[in-house]
Amino acid sequence: MLTRLPDNSPLILRPIRPEDKGLLVHGLARMSPASRHARFLAPKQRFTLSELRYLTEVDGVDHVAYVALRADAPRELVAVGRMVRHKDEPAAAEIAIAVCDSWQRRGVGALLGDVLATAARDREIRWLTATMNAGNVAAHRLFNHVSTQLHERHDGAVDELRADLAFAA
Ligand SMILES: CC(C)(COP(=O)(O)OP(=O)(O)OC[C@H]1O[C@@H](n2cnc3c(N)ncnc32)[C@H](O)[C@@H]1OP(=O)(O)O)[C@@H](O)C(=O)NCCC(=O)NCCS
Repeated sequence: MLTRLPDNSPLILRPIRPEDKGLLVHGLARMSPASRHARFLAPKQRFTLSELRYLTEVDGVDHVAYVALRADAPRELVAVGRMVRHKDEPAAAEIAIAVCDSWQRRGVGALLGDVLATAARDREIRWLTATMNAGNVAAHRLFNHVSTQLHERHDGAVDELRADLAFAA
């Protein structure tokens, strides 16, 4: 699907595919150490093959992921967003979004947040959770977008957020 950012830049948005492993490898290589740490809550140099399988071979029901790609260079990753249903709480899912540094602050994260929130509602998910570094203002603000009510739990250096999803009346 071709979509546009608030500044009118075109972007391709589509569900992730098993053949996207190379995209993720190159995308991670282009992310700054700070952004990688913010996404994985640890230094992250590379993905193992089993991580790449997990990240790209999703079932579309309990694990949903989208990639955003440059419209003028569709082999270049702009961002990834994913949602994984909690095994012990099927009405809740953990989300994680990573936007390549040069594309941050342009509305890509908010766009993926909206897409994941819609995917969650379609799959009878009512709550989204996320774990992030305590100082991650961008992620906190992004999470606010998709939520009618936000609950936060501080746990040392990380914050656990739980968002009630907005449903149409
Ligand atoms: C967090 C992240 C996904 C946000 O994506 P993004 O495309 O830069 O965000 P958007 O442009 O859509 O902005 C979303 C909100 O965050 C705010 N924001 C974005 N970057 C910000 C920054 N550096 N400082 C403060 N606020 C920021 C925006 O102003 C907007 O809030 P508002 O609408 O209330 O004004 C992106 O910064 C990122 O990938 N960071 C590294 C990985 C990470 O932290 N992932 C989150 C873990 S779940």
